[in-house]
Amino acid sequence: MIIDTTSQKEILRRRTFAIISHPDAGKTTLTEKLLYHGGVIHETGEVKGKSGTKAVTSDWMELERQKGISITSSVMTFDYNSLRINLLDTPGHKDFSEDTYRVLMAVDSAAMLIDVAKGVEERTKKLYEVCRYRQIPIFTFVNKLDREGKDPLTLIDEIEKTLGMQCYPVTWPLGIGQRFKGIYNRVTKELMFYDQRREGDETLTYPFQGIDDPRIDEFLDKESAQQVRDELELIETALPPFDVQAFLNGEISPVTFGSAKQNFGVDTFLNFFCKYAPGVQPRKRREGSEMNPLEDNFTGFVFKIQANMDRRHRDRVAFVRICSGKFERGMKVQHMRLKKELRLAYSNQFVAADRETVDVAYAGDIVGVNDTGNFAIGDCIAVNGNIVYEDIPKFAPELFTKLSVKDALKRTKMQDALRHLSEEGAIQLFIDPLVGMQDPIVGAVGELQFEVLAHRLQDEYNLEVKLNRLSFSVARWPKDKNGQGVSELKGGLQIYRDMNEQPVILLNQEWDLKWAERENPDIEFAHSISRTR
Ligand code: G4P
Repeated sequence: MIIDTTSQKEILRRRTFAIISHPDAGKTTLTEKLLYHGGVIHETGEVKGKSGTKAVTSDWMELERQKGISITSSVMTFDYNSLRINLLDTPGHKDFSEDTYRVLMAVDSAAMLIDVAKGVEERTKKLYEVCRYRQIPIFTFVNKLDREGKDPLTLIDEIEKTLGMQCYPVTWPLGIGQRFKGIYNRVTKELMFYDQRREGDETLTYPFQGIDDPRIDEFLDKESAQQVRDELELIETALPPFDVQAFLNGEISPVTFGSAKQNFGVDTFLNFFCKYAPGVQPRKRREGSEMNPLEDNFTGFVFKIQANMDRRHRDRVAFVRICSGKFERGMKVQHMRLKKELRLAYSNQFVAADRETVDVAYAGDIVGVNDTGNFAIGDCIAVNGNIVYEDIPKFAPELFTKLSVKDALKRTKMQDALRHLSEEGAIQLFIDPLVGMQDPIVGAVGELQFEVLAHRLQDEYNLEVKLNRLSFSVARWPKDKNGQGVSELKGGLQIYRDMNEQPVILLNQEWDLKWAERENPDIEFAHSISRTR
């Protein structure tokens, strides 16, 4: 049954997305400007360094602050052009990429942010691959045009070649760095001039009269004007019109240029986003069909669990992406994996680090529900029926350690703690079937994850641990032709198990993997695996 018309309107105006980028490309700055346009903040500079206003912080976040990086992700919500936009923040630090991958499972589109001087960087590439895997549409914002960088044609070529995705320039820069004079909006056919001395956000805008437009000569020096004309002529003649369907399939990315810091081009990006960003998408169910977001049945899945957000309450929050229907605080839902009924009594929405109680939310929104240990990543909840969504994959960690606890009597406590933290997705656990949980191997994507682990074991579980690092750097899940886990391999490879009992191999280096593949030609060594629920 389709939901009532008021709720339909609410669902149809939701847009849920995340920004993917390499650290330092300007994600925080762009986020801040988007929130500014959305009226959430009234002065820029509020997102960063708002320590004074952060009412709830934990020691864990203290660690984050000391390191000057963003470990935790939150959800920022704002209204723009009659749309309700949910921007899911992704941790920028490379060590927390797993967390970022999971956030990307909960969005309907992504914005890829690229530093004009640096081009496509390593992290961006990895995150792009996750978007590609999900076939979500990707917008591209080329940032820092007020600084020297690559010329736009070279950059577009680089994006297309490195990522294997076509680009469609929506805007085109007029010069760059010292000579940056504005952008041409190919959709609205307007020239927007950038004045470094401008006050406020006023931009001079003129209708574009074609490449002979005299204003180009008025604002640009002779050489830049000629270059812009050559570039515009090339792209106008060479490029086919914007193929919306190819964009929605994730095959072509519309590109806008600007400077987040100078708040130039951000509104153009946002307007284009509002016009083309897909609304709440139907979610694939494990049995194959899709769930219509307008269905009158509240359903959702947990994509992130965060412990200890509020030190005073020592709580755990499960972030649920609503896939269909309407959420009402206090409602009763079925927990699919545990096959039990839960009441969602406490729920929050987040604006940066501040949380607000939410009474009503709709498909496309994210709600944080208080968790007393019921939830694991990928868990599904629904009011009616057996609605289980596609798995959220786990990606292979690259660092491995064993842990020893100083006080031997606390071994069991440590095993429980590790189990909790792996449910949360903070780490991955691998066990030798002969030894079991007695001596698990802990896997992480980055160094900092271990640091946070040790800190949390001490802080939340009162366990002082020592890390005994292992030489492994590669984990793969061996599967046969039917996608089933394989428990025996040629070449004497030892098989471990992950927490879902799936066979996994741990190797020292990529070279060993090549060897394993040669020895076992019929086996696929998967880099990611579903979480069995
Ligand atoms: P991140 O979240 O992606 O890691 O990047 P963040 O926004 O923190 O930006 C990284 C640096 O790049 C910051 O400089 C920021 O000011 C700068 N930046 C962001 N966008 C632009 C832009 O459009 N033009 C220019 N010129 N710089 C930009 P910082 O020196 O680290 O900090 P700050 O003192 O400038 O705040």
